[in-house]
Amino acid sequence: MKGVILAGGLGTRLRPLTLITNKHLLPIYDQPMIFYPIQTLVMAGIKDILIVVGGPHAGHFMRVLKNGKDLGIKHLEFAYQEGEGGIAAALSLAEDFADNNPITFILGDNTTDADIGPSVAKFKYGSVAFLKKVPDPQRYGVPVFDPKDKNKILRIEEKPKKPKSAYASTGLYIFDNQCFEFIRNGTPSARGELEITDVQNQYISQGTLKWELLKGFWTDAGKFESLFAANQYWARMRGIKT
Ligand code: DAU
Repeated sequence: MKGVILAGGLGTRLRPLTLITNKHLLPIYDQPMIFYPIQTLVMAGIKDILIVVGGPHAGHFMRVLKNGKDLGIKHLEFAYQEGEGGIAAALSLAEDFADNNPITFILGDNTTDADIGPSVAKFKYGSVAFLKKVPDPQRYGVPVFDPKDKNKILRIEEKPKKPKSAYASTGLYIFDNQCFEFIRNGTPSARGELEITDVQNQYISQGTLKWELLKGFWTDAGKFESLFAANQYWARMRGIKT
């Protein structure tokens, strides 16, 4: 399978740090943020990777990643997102790269030590959502479970004021090639973005979205609090007492 990582956007929630470089090149303990989703893909056997970059510091990625060989990547491509039309709009830039095949898709500010290799290996069609129990679900896409069947997701709500479950849809996804058609069907949300949850909801309507709990540590690192938590976790993993 091929992999796509999103590393565009302006990272406004991390200003002033993001005035000097792209958010995904900021450090999480001893590595740039982008290394973590790359390692998740490479560990899952995915070595053909497209990174969607954007904003004023896009060129910095080449200096850090070069051809990706040091990180175990066999083939590395970049795409440039004009503007910040949303996650689904950025993903649509990967359509030619996907070449009618399924993709594993990771938001570049997500860091986890979970092994998604088995899920990638057994994937056949539709989509997989990786869920994690969180204390603050209103910050995320939140699944609404069927009260009659706790294993069935009825829909995923983007940043609901009153979350209907305690789970976040993490920024890790497996999509078959229909995702690009679903993006074309989508309309921008109230915040003017094509939402990735809209794409997930189209799989739910079709009855082809499966979900799994993500095992191990997971956080996004898009805010100072979560960036700090990610730094603490990975420092501890490397034997540093924090
Ligand atoms: O982290 C998981 C959450 O990520 C999900 O639960 C939500 O459903 C999903 O919408 C997303 O929410 P965020 O508010 O955290 O997304 P954010 O705008 O921070 O963007 C996530 C990543 O995608 C970030 O690393 C930058 C990249 N991005 C974002 C936008 C809006 C792009 O490359 N281009 C974009 O236009």
